[in-house]
Amino acid sequence: MSEFKQLVFSGVQPTGNLHLGNYLGALQKFVALQDSHDCIYCVVDLHSLTATLVHDDLKEQTRSIAAAFLACGLDPEKNIIFNQSRVPQHAELAWVFNCVARIGWMNRMTQFKDKAGKDRENASLGLLAYPSLMAADILVYRATHVPVGDDQKQHLELTRDIAQKFNNDFSHRIAELGYGVEMQVGEEAVNGFFPLTEPLIEGSATRVMSLRDGTKKMSKSDPSDLSRINLTDDADTIVRKIRKAKTDPAPLPGDIEGFVGRPEADNLVGIYAALAGISREKVIAEFGGKQFSEFKPALAELAVETLAPINAEMRRISADLGYVDGVLREGGERARQRAEETMKKVYEIVGLLAD
Ligand code: AMP
Ligand code: TRP
Repeated sequence: MSEFKQLVFSGVQPTGNLHLGNYLGALQKFVALQDSHDCIYCVVDLHSLTATLVHDDLKEQTRSIAAAFLACGLDPEKNIIFNQSRVPQHAELAWVFNCVARIGWMNRMTQFKDKAGKDRENASLGLLAYPSLMAADILVYRATHVPVGDDQKQHLELTRDIAQKFNNDFSHRIAELGYGVEMQVGEEAVNGFFPLTEPLIEGSATRVMSLRDGTKKMSKSDPSDLSRINLTDDADTIVRKIRKAKTDPAPLPGDIEGFVGRPEADNLVGIYAALAGISREKVIAEFGGKQFSEFKPALAELAVETLAPINAEMRRISADLGYVDGVLREGGERARQRAEETMKKVYEIVGLLAD
């Protein structure tokens, strides 16, 4: 009996500038995984229609995320890099999943509640169904691992719920057609068409917080630009934003317990650890007991060292639109071949007269 081949999939929306949270929570991990895994990285442009329907510059934004992928070091030969709307099977599978998932599951999503706000009746149906499209992005390739930041954990649990319900509801057809794949779920060996995808949420920066408020997530939509470091910021801007980052008056703690009630200190040390590729404990071993006036310049230096080459590469790549478009077109063709195979089987399993 065969097993699912390990496959990594992740997506980033083309809405707003990428920031340090996106880099440490997602892109840095994408790059690390390309050496050990088969990987597919997607600019999820269809997702951008869920909160705001009309965009002036979706094409540019899509190219700019793709340029960021490449600037961080993703190899377009080794990995598949493309934008979602080129592969219609994502939307096709999302429709099937809309019929698998329950409205109650969607209503419980915290991202939906946050984005819809008080006037839920007036949110788009697409915003409610967003996790179903996200599950389709992943499962149309039957991907087994998804590197994301901590905020996506709930969506990945829902992706597993959808896969599991599909596998159960169609178990007889899947077996009849011989499309089942063996997988281990806890102690049990089960058979299913879709894998129960694992999130990869590890390291010291799975949730990078705002530089102005350590209790709020660093986000593209924060009105204060000082709250985040953008991948497009130059060295002076990075240094200034770190100098102005909110802290408390005490020196850095000497152990991990010392971060309790000090979210800003915790965040800056987490960022340092992730940028340096070391543990928080190691950062504390070096800076514990020291003042922020000493720690901040070291952090700024490290941030500039990491981000300046990415920034320069992004400018260089963005100047060659033909190259970026070529990568997305070619990636789209490769992705589509794989997605077509899955969808053909899904329609057979569901029993549609489609061939
Ligand atoms: P988004 O920009 O919302 O499409 O997010 C793209 C990726 O970056 C996702 O994997 C998110 O989980 C991750 N991400 C976004 N904001 C943060 C943050 N503040 N800290 C860590 N990861 C983040
Ligand atoms: N929901 C993710 C976010 O807001 C983006 C996304 C869409 C995604 N489809 C995905 C991430 C599939 C991982 C896998 O950041």
